[in-house]
Amino acid sequence: MGRLDNKVAIVTGAGSGMGKAIAAEYAQEGAKVILADINQETLEAVAEEIKAAGGKATISVTNIANEDDINAMVALATDTYGSLDILVNNAGIMDNFTTVGNVSNELYDKVIAINLTGPFKAARAAINVMEKQENGGVIVNNASVGGLFGARGGAVYAISKHGLIGLTKNIAATYGRFGKIRANAIAPGGVKTNIQSTITAVDPLGGQALQAAGESPLGEPSDIAHLATFLASDESSFIDGDVIKADGGWTV
Ligand SMILES: NC(=O)c1ccc[n+]([C@@H]2O[C@H](COP(=O)([O-])OP(=O)(O)OC[C@H]3O[C@@H](n4cnc5c(N)ncnc54)[C@H](O)[C@@H]3O)[C@@H](O)[C@H]2O)c1
Repeated sequence: MGRLDNKVAIVTGAGSGMGKAIAAEYAQEGAKVILADINQETLEAVAEEIKAAGGKATISVTNIANEDDINAMVALATDTYGSLDILVNNAGIMDNFTTVGNVSNELYDKVIAINLTGPFKAARAAINVMEKQENGGVIVNNASVGGLFGARGGAVYAISKHGLIGLTKNIAATYGRFGKIRANAIAPGGVKTNIQSTITAVDPLGGQALQAAGESPLGEPSDIAHLATFLASDESSFIDGDVIKADGGWTV
């Protein structure tokens, strides 16, 4: 018996890092998983791995900044597997710790589109399916300690992740409190993934603020996957609207 038997889950950003680990663990726990990512090559490799381990997975090449892609991703879940029980909004990008004065309009629009507007639209599309289901559904948003504190990302990253936590709480206060759709957020600290390689030219002031926050322990993607499985499963049925840090004590 798996902890997610008979559940259908969408995991965005499933081609790498935490999304890949979450998708693999969900499949191992019995869920049928829609693997969504902008990168088709990595998606196919993850799908192969999951299937080789006996799991069920279908890929959805999805740019989370594109509403048509989001709607197609949700439709793929219901068309392929008949329901949508779990949405993990995990895809996200960083911003080189860029401070407000140095944020270009392009950077602002890109980070907000991927880290906040995309997850909002995915949650909306998922909720429109979940609220018609007898058992509702669960939304897990992968935020960041940057969504709780000022200096764990740049300005737009902090805005986007604080916004994602706001979305989580509003869903919980409405669809959770008065319906059957729970939503919780994870706030990871440093985790060993490919996102680290996108930190290329750190903003001097943003970097100084990060340094003042002290050195971060680095977790494994599986550390976050374990928490994401718990939050998606019925074991966490009384937990709603929470933000759970997983940062090895970095911010304590
Ligand atoms: N790694 C960390 O230290 C850390 C810490 C806190 C929070 N996070 C958050 O965790 C989440 C996962 O990041 P990760 O560290 O596993 O990074 P990662 O770079 O390893 O994986 C991110 C995945 O998202 C995909 N992606 C990027 N843009 C996309 C788009 N427009 N549409 C669809 N998919 C897209 C990428 O192709 C990639 O497969 C992100 O939201 C990130 O902000 C990461």
